[in-house]
Amino acid sequence: MKLRRLFVACAVVLAGIALQSCCCGGSQISGENYEFKDGMIVFDEPERAPGQESMLAFAADPIPVVRVGFIGLGGRGPGAVQRFTHIEGVEIKGLCDIEPDRVEKSQGILEKAGMPRAEGYTGREGYKALCEREDVDLIYICTDWVNHVPIALYAMEHGKHVAIEVPAATSVEECWQLVDTSERTRRHCMMLENCCYDFFELTALNMAQHNLFGEVLHVEGAYIHNLADFWDVYYDNWRLDYNQKHRGDVYATHGLGPVCQVLNIHRGNRMNYLVCMDTKSVVGLECAQKKMGSTEFANGDHTHTLIRTELGQTIEIQHNVYTPRPYNRLYQITGSKGFANKYPISGLTFAPGQLSADVHPDAPNTNAHGFMPKELYDATMEYYKHPIHREIEEKARQVGGHGGMDFVLDFRLFYCLQNGLPLDQDVYDAAEWSCIGELSATSANHNSMPVKFPDFTRGDWNKIQGYKHAVKE
Ligand SMILES: NC(=O)c1ccc[n+]([C@@H]2O[C@H](COP(=O)([O-])OP(=O)(O)OC[C@H]3O[C@@H](n4cnc5c(N)ncnc54)[C@H](O)[C@@H]3O)[C@@H](O)[C@H]2O)c1
Repeated sequence: MKLRRLFVACAVVLAGIALQSCCCGGSQISGENYEFKDGMIVFDEPERAPGQESMLAFAADPIPVVRVGFIGLGGRGPGAVQRFTHIEGVEIKGLCDIEPDRVEKSQGILEKAGMPRAEGYTGREGYKALCEREDVDLIYICTDWVNHVPIALYAMEHGKHVAIEVPAATSVEECWQLVDTSERTRRHCMMLENCCYDFFELTALNMAQHNLFGEVLHVEGAYIHNLADFWDVYYDNWRLDYNQKHRGDVYATHGLGPVCQVLNIHRGNRMNYLVCMDTKSVVGLECAQKKMGSTEFANGDHTHTLIRTELGQTIEIQHNVYTPRPYNRLYQITGSKGFANKYPISGLTFAPGQLSADVHPDAPNTNAHGFMPKELYDATMEYYKHPIHREIEEKARQVGGHGGMDFVLDFRLFYCLQNGLPLDQDVYDAAEWSCIGELSATSANHNSMPVKFPDFTRGDWNKIQGYKHAVKE
């Protein structure tokens, strides 16, 4: 036992020396945009430039009829065009894709809905003319990942609000570009994280906001989706190509977004640092060998990221788009008084006395050794249904889009724009949830070393207390 302690003590001293030499070391151990400090990798945090102002709680003037330009009409975009035809106070002014036939297909959606055809834009730079139009308020971007930021910046520079598919950005540098441009131009920059609006997630958020879980201590989220049947669908093979070149959790936002809202990230809390560990690539490499002739594949088959927050909670995020296993976004909340889990089995557990008899006569007598019985689960889910779902669940399920959550997302975007309210996801959410890609890759590349989160709010993370959806008075 004594020997073991001696060994551990030596290891700690040696690690300290190694770390010290690391911290004072030369250029070989610093990245271009980060340094080693206090045992962590710390990315540069540029100061706010004169003329920029925080976008926290930003609300633009109400836009009673929102005029929209769509860019990117592949697998995802046309579904959004279709959903928009079911929302009042929306005019689709422009449709843009590299490929003319994709634009034409979406014109067909408008025609079928009895709406006027929009102006069509094609080619790789066709988006510029659409962003330059005077009669467009919002640019909705559904292109592949690397095109999100260049288009969003161009749109904001031309006075447009932007909504960007997930992840909004692919690097820390791109995240800062979104933040800085949004702050300077005073335009909304929202990432379209639809999973925040799914039925279990929004109900569980409502429960958390009613303190049902006690103090939330640990949360989990994931994107585990076997894409074997989908790789061929992406335009020009962009997705496999991106993953072949990039390590880390390149698609973290579906798992991270909903749990960040539970933890009030940058509304009184913040993500302090992460560590990431991944497996080697077996299935990804096999696939890239066949499709691209690759001999290497940077993205691990299964990637884990652990995050610690300012308030002492942990977040676990996983990514696996390769191996044969059922779809899973985990979505789990562990609190001092309760527990919620969505995948693979949706269930709730509460300490006795945590639920009131108003929910169900048996509710106060829950035991915390297993999930509550179905009848009680159903009653609790109904009782805590989020007001947003109470308002539009039926229509959302009819219109659809991942079972309805996509429609809820679009509905909220237009509700907030039309009523001049802050949007549900601000530019700091977009940056915080998207930067995981580069931060996790950097950790994995340094033997899972901790990486500090950049504070995209530049010190304002504690100014607002608690996440909330804006509602008109
Ligand atoms: N939130 C979700 O549930 C969800 C689901 C699927 C995809 N997505 C996201 O949607 C985005 C698009 O994914 P997809 O599956 O539709 O990919 P896709 O390859 O099917 O479509 C991308 C489209 O963008 C177009 N495009 C690329 N660059 C362009 C440019 N400069 N100008 C105009 N058009 C351009 C391509 O021609 C293509 O039609 C990605 O960010 C993806 O992560 C989100």
